Amino acid sequence: MKFFVDTANVDQIKAAHDMGLLDGVTTNPSLVAKEGKEFKSLIGEICGITSGPVSAEVLSTECGAMVEEAKELIKIAPNVTVKLPIITEGIKALKICVAEGMDVNMTLCFQPIQALIVAKVGAACCSPFLGRLDDIGEDGMELVRDIREIYDNYGFTTQLLAASLRHPNHVLEAALAGADIGTMPYSVFEKLWKHPLTDIGLKRFLADWKKTQK
Ligand code: E4P
Repeated sequence: MKFFVDTANVDQIKAAHDMGLLDGVTTNPSLVAKEGKEFKSLIGEICGITSGPVSAEVLSTECGAMVEEAKELIKIAPNVTVKLPIITEGIKALKICVAEGMDVNMTLCFQPIQALIVAKVGAACCSPFLGRLDDIGEDGMELVRDIREIYDNYGFTTQLLAASLRHPNHVLEAALAGADIGTMPYSVFEKLWKHPLTDIGLKRFLADWKKTQK
């Protein structure tokens, strides 16, 4: 499974990149707004850190305007993936963007049939937000499993991008469910390799070694 960080914070993106584990980045308008920087130059800065795909979301909600924004976004860097919401206008824009040769990540997916629709139109990625479903008492991982089954049934090449991951167990379960990509906040990313027994074990090894060095 590829690991993306879900942030527009360049320090966090650099840190994930330096670990050798960063396959790409997802941003959204809320994450970009938090950084207080100019949108396109921030996306450019991020694209300079990783050569992996960097999702940048359009802000318009009407097809023509979405396509115009998408055209501007892909000028920023060759690794920009345009992100469009799964609404009627977004699906119309997807068709045009795909015809223009763009990679598009369809976002805000909350049910399997939405994922089938965007795959049929040619999305490069579909992002089910599983944490937000868990937040309202639904089973987000079931959505990921259902999408995997649909995509495998019909041989769709659309990448299943498990999004809104809240903790390392979400990452593990998404991997077991066959997600192609998991995107997570940096706070989740940095917990992936940590276990208290690893730290306790190392402490004991070093203490035992020290005893023999007198
Ligand atoms: C993915 O592309 C989204 O930006 C993200 O995963 C949303 O996560 P949230 O539910 O934590 O805001």
